[in-house]
Amino acid sequence: MNAPRTRPVPPEPELPVDHPLIDRSFIARLVRAFYGRVRSDPRLGPIFAAEIADSWEPHLEKMTDFWCAVILKNGAYSGRPVPAHVRLKGIVEEDFGIWLHHFHMTISGLCPPEVATIFVDRAERIARSLKLAMFFKLERSS
Ligand code: HEM
Repeated sequence: MNAPRTRPVPPEPELPVDHPLIDRSFIARLVRAFYGRVRSDPRLGPIFAAEIADSWEPHLEKMTDFWCAVILKNGAYSGRPVPAHVRLKGIVEEDFGIWLHHFHMTISGLCPPEVATIFVDRAERIARSLKLAMFFKLERSS
């Protein structure tokens, strides 16, 4: 007898976060606190300094749009993160662990854990897909 056919289960769509604390001004504070930490990190600071130099204001605005789009699903960001990272020189996979650590520490200090978890889950998912784009290579079979 044939095994019963199962349909693939599509992933749950991510929903906008609806919480009284979470709006654009909260996200702007998160972004500024997070990049404050990143800029003083001995490993990540120089990578950002080399790219961003003295144009931090536009970068922080863009990252606020990005996180509004990720969390509030308001369509504020329409850029392309993958090519922006693929062209960066000198990043290794472990740097993403440092990035995520700072992100976790920043968001945990700003909101209750049930909300922080949503930010961290979404950051981890995006970090995974950036890492795949940057570091995944098919091994040649012969
Ligand atoms: C070690 C980890 C990472 C490093 C060193 C890094 C570094 C950078 C740098 C230097 C830029 C500026 C590039 C430019 O202006 O052209 C940038 C842009 C950006 N990053 Fe990252 N990044 C990291 C991880 C992440 C993660 C995990 C996310 C998302 C959760 C993220 C989201 C973005 C976005 C949305 C942009 C703007 C892309 C654009 O539209 O120009 N990054 N990143």
